Amino acid sequence: MTNSQPSTTAVQSLLREDRIFTPSSDHAASLGGAWCATMDEYHARHARSIADPEGFWAEIAQDFEWFTPWSKVLEWNCPDAKWFVGATTNICHNAIDRHVLDGHGHEVAMIWEGEPKCAGESGREPEVRHISYGELLEDVSRFANALKSLGVKRGDVVTLYMGMVPELAVAMLACARIGAPHSVIFGGFPAPAITDRMLDAQSRVIVTCDGAWRRGSVVALKHNVDEALDALAAKGHVVEHCVVLQRTKNECTWNPSRDRCWHELVSAQSTECECEAMDSEDLLFLLYTSGSTGKPKGIRHTIGGYMVYTAYTAQQTFNLRPATGQVFWCTADIGWVTGHSYIVYGILQNRVPTLMYEGAPNWPADDRFWEMVQRHRVTHFHTAPTAIRAFMKWGDEHPAKHDLSSLKLLGSVGEPINPEAWMWYREHIGHDHCPIVDTFWQTETGGHVITPLACVTPTVPGSCTLPFFGVDVAVVDETGCEVAANTGGLLVIRKPWPGMLRGIHGDRARFIETYWSRIPGMYLAGDGARRDERGYFWIMGRIDDVINVSGHRLGTMEVESALVSHASVVEAAVVGMPHDIKGTGIAAFVSLAPHVSASEELKSALREHVAGVLGPIAKPDIIRFTQSLPKTRSGKIMRRLLRDVAAGRDSKQDTTTLEDFAVLAALRGNEE
Ligand code: WT7
Repeated sequence: MTNSQPSTTAVQSLLREDRIFTPSSDHAASLGGAWCATMDEYHARHARSIADPEGFWAEIAQDFEWFTPWSKVLEWNCPDAKWFVGATTNICHNAIDRHVLDGHGHEVAMIWEGEPKCAGESGREPEVRHISYGELLEDVSRFANALKSLGVKRGDVVTLYMGMVPELAVAMLACARIGAPHSVIFGGFPAPAITDRMLDAQSRVIVTCDGAWRRGSVVALKHNVDEALDALAAKGHVVEHCVVLQRTKNECTWNPSRDRCWHELVSAQSTECECEAMDSEDLLFLLYTSGSTGKPKGIRHTIGGYMVYTAYTAQQTFNLRPATGQVFWCTADIGWVTGHSYIVYGILQNRVPTLMYEGAPNWPADDRFWEMVQRHRVTHFHTAPTAIRAFMKWGDEHPAKHDLSSLKLLGSVGEPINPEAWMWYREHIGHDHCPIVDTFWQTETGGHVITPLACVTPTVPGSCTLPFFGVDVAVVDETGCEVAANTGGLLVIRKPWPGMLRGIHGDRARFIETYWSRIPGMYLAGDGARRDERGYFWIMGRIDDVINVSGHRLGTMEVESALVSHASVVEAAVVGMPHDIKGTGIAAFVSLAPHVSASEELKSALREHVAGVLGPIAKPDIIRFTQSLPKTRSGKIMRRLLRDVAAGRDSKQDTTTLEDFAVLAALRGNEE
């Protein structure tokens, strides 16, 4: 340990939570019986998965179809893992063909709902599509042939920059089918994000849409692509083909030498296309994730391990069972890993219909999601804490208007969920009977690494509970030793797991430096965490966000949760700021519940409230009321920007991932 690298072991943990919710046998029965029946069984299987990972994963992997078997389950030369060595398979085969071959081709694979409400006779119905495995197989095969006709071969990276339309999933699966890795770019990103990612991946083919519907207006995707491809050409990188799906019918510029119409292209193709036999360790996709500093990292995931891990985590965490009336809805965008793993690959493999929604949660009104839950009889609803806090702010009356009785399980993902939001979710969406699974993981982990198992794990608001099978996760100090219960430390994973990243595309040094160098031999997640006396994990926030007040290290999450537990607060972000006496003070950005007005009295009340929950050390030095907080497009609060605002610095930070620039402008202009 060096002095320049501050120890995280002294992070204060002040939050206490005594509520515990034990699932009843009724829960399990309503989901067709739990895969893992008791906590004893969970502990025994988890222990076995750590003691004998190869034996454990070999058993799980047997349930998948491989074209040739593996010679070895795992080859581990830290940080390089190879899973199911020598085996060949195709994830598209396991997600679609397999179900068709087993006689389930007529079953619904995907339900899709478009954003605009204009299709029906009354003029207020949305467009809905039900796509069976048989139809999906034809669509995917056609598009796979279309890609081949453009000269796309095994190993060529295909960039997908589309809205949330079924063709996005079709394109991903078509790429997987022919062994061309995909690189999905979130449709909300501007042109430079496309330029950077296509250059980094050396991708020469892009698939896009004319536009995407978002809150009633058209996001001009093709226009952004044109801009990006011009910029790429100027850098000497020529993109040969741009396939354009017509969705919104907005005006587009057309470059006949490069642009191809999706519909024309696929209509000429056969519906037969054999799956390529891919090596288990061939690249399945790149997914770019922006770190707190520097350019986005192209996270590499390979086929065999990711295939097994996403299907198995989805099955066990959500208790998925085919042909039992389950409908799984994950509200994420496919541009994030959550959408890759738990809209597309993990869910299709389990033969449970996956619902995909095109647009915004509050279009045309704040009850859109609840109307959809009712319309599609959704059983599994999976969303992010940032969305839950927005639902709270919009008001309880919206979910109350709809029949949510189909719901059996709720999921949360993406950031720590404040206990207050957890309780609201349980009460207003889950009507006190749906278990909540708070799934902790990362783009890098491929699938869940810490999560309750539906209907088995007793849950506690704000904790992601216990490790998934095969994941040896721990909270350690700078020397890699596990810390005592309720002491903050670094979250690490000490053994390889099948869904783990296989590298950062084109940057070996950064891969090692980011994940494997601070604690040699262990994967560093970059989050601070503690384990309580039950062994449950509590994520305390990103390591970079920890605040050091007069020598006490505080996790941002705890202070934020304390603020949100006050009735007048809906959302809060807490950062460190320069302070003359303490060195670092605490700045809190707070957004208030509807009908609560901002006042100096409220500020003092909130400071006292935090002191009451966490102790005086955690009292914010300044509180700033704001309409909304700056967030990445995936809903994470951008604390690094808030640090600059709190310090009165003009931010030189990269803001390409910021969802709403107006928020930042408002915060900057509102200096006290
Ligand atoms: C980071 C990973 C997981 C897919 C979506 C985000 C935070 C994620 C939780 C959770 C507390 C969480 C962590 C993690 N995070 N889920 N359930 N509880 N924190 O993927 O963009 O790669 O972000 O999101 O900080 O490191 P990502």
